Parts: sequence; structure tokens; C-alpha cells
Amino acid sequence: MVLGVAAYTLRRRFVRSLPGMARDWLWMHTWLGIITVLIAFLHENYTYIIPGVCGSSGGLSCLSQFYFGPSALFALMLLVLSGVVGRLLDVWQAHVIARDASTNGVGITQSLEERILELEYTVERLSAGKSEPFKAYCLKALDSMSNIATLPVPPISPQEQTDFARAHETLLDRARLLASLQRQQQARLIFRTWRSIHMILAPIALLIILYHAILEILTSILGIHFS
Ligand code: HEM
Repeated sequence: MVLGVAAYTLRRRFVRSLPGMARDWLWMHTWLGIITVLIAFLHENYTYIIPGVCGSSGGLSCLSQFYFGPSALFALMLLVLSGVVGRLLDVWQAHVIARDASTNGVGITQSLEERILELEYTVERLSAGKSEPFKAYCLKALDSMSNIATLPVPPISPQEQTDFARAHETLLDRARLLASLQRQQQARLIFRTWRSIHMILAPIALLIILYHAILEILTSILGIHFS
């Protein structure tokens, strides 16, 4: 079952031609993972899941017993717990991005980046050939990631007032879209960071689980004993 859960990475990365949609594979990955840990609890009669880790034997002394059986169980528990956290983060991430994309008037990351670039070109065009205070203000506003509403507005000559008002409005729009882009990127980054942790935990846990499973099969089922 553990290998079945891990097969998700095969479909996602290595053999994309495997039948079924990635979404269905993730569904299988999630539920098979949860059922696996429940069965692992069951086959050891729910021992080791109570606080105190090694029970009456105390400390962490049991971890290497039964060919690292308790370690395999804890590794599986940690992996499944991490998976559940990740699934929740995935839902949260999708929610944040969808809400943001529907309220910013532009959409998701790629469209936002394109629109922000367009707004920057507009500001550059408006400030071309204008007075020094006009240009300096626009440059500062384009450089600053902070709220441009707090930037002091310089004295602008009456003939530049209309273009300055347009540039200012464009800069405000850009700042609003930048904040939206940052929110979406942050949500993605949080999920990607979790993903890296889950993917580091997975091979470590798999090694311990496979070691335990193979040696238990060899000794308890096939009766081969190592001196
Ligand atoms: C035996 C237990 C598990 C193993 C060995 C395992 C292993 C993996 C691996 C290797 C990946 C990376 C796939 C890739 O990108 O190539 C992955 C992704 C993931 N796993 Fe698990 N996992 C387990 C349990 C779970 C459980 C129980 C859940 C959810 C409740 C879960 C949720 C996820 C999610 C959400 C992803 C990222 C999906 C994506 O972005 O495509 N995992 N898992």
C-alpha cells in the first residue's frame, strides 16, 4: 500500500502517460495513505500510538526493535500527518488565489505580471520629457515596493498636472496589483515549501518502512533467520 501511495510521483513526474487524470491519482494518493496508516495501527493492535512512545519500556529504546518496526510506524504517521497538512494548505492556497484573482480585476500571476509591466511602460511614457521633480517622483514610486500613497508629492507645474494625475493613478493601480501578486506568490511559496518537506520525508520514511517490511517477511513469513 505504501508503494501504491508513492506511485503518485511516478504518474506526476516520470510516466505521465499512465492512465487516469493527475487529480484522480492525487485522490488515490490521499486516501490510500490515510488507510495505510490506519492498517499499520491495526496490525500492531494500536500500540505505539499512545504518548510515551515506547510505553512501559520507556524512552525511545523500542525504536530499533522488530527490525525498526516502531520507527517505520512513526515515520508513516509523520508522513501521513504531513500529507493531511499539505492537503489543507493546498485547499487554502487555491482559495486565496481564486479570491484574489476574482477581486483584483486582472486574474492570476501571469496576467498580473503582464498588466504590471504595461502600467510601468505607461508611467515611463507619461514621465518622458517632463520636469525633474515629475521624473524623480515616478522613478521613486516605481522603485518603491511600499505604499506609494505615503510618498511626498513634489510641486508640479500647471502644464504637467494632467499627465502627473494620470501617472499617479497608474502608479496607485500598479501598487495595488503588486500587493495582489505578492499575496498569490506567498500562498504558492507556502505550499511549495510544504511540498519540499513532504518530498524529503517520503524517501526517508519509505526506506525505514521497506527495511522493516522486507526483514519481517524474510524472518516471520519465510522463516529465514539472520545470526
Ligand atoms: C505513505 C504515505 C505517503 C507517501 C510515501 C507520500 C509521498 C509523496 C510524494 C513522493 C509526493 C511528491 C509527488 C511529486 O511531486 O512527484 C507527494 C505529494 C503530495 N502528497 Fe503525499 N505521500 C504520502 C501520504 C500522503 C497523504 C496521506 C496525503 C494527504 C492526506 C498526501 C498529500 C500529498 C499532496 C497534497 C502532495 C502534493 C501534490 C501535488 O502538488 O501534486 N500524501 N507525496
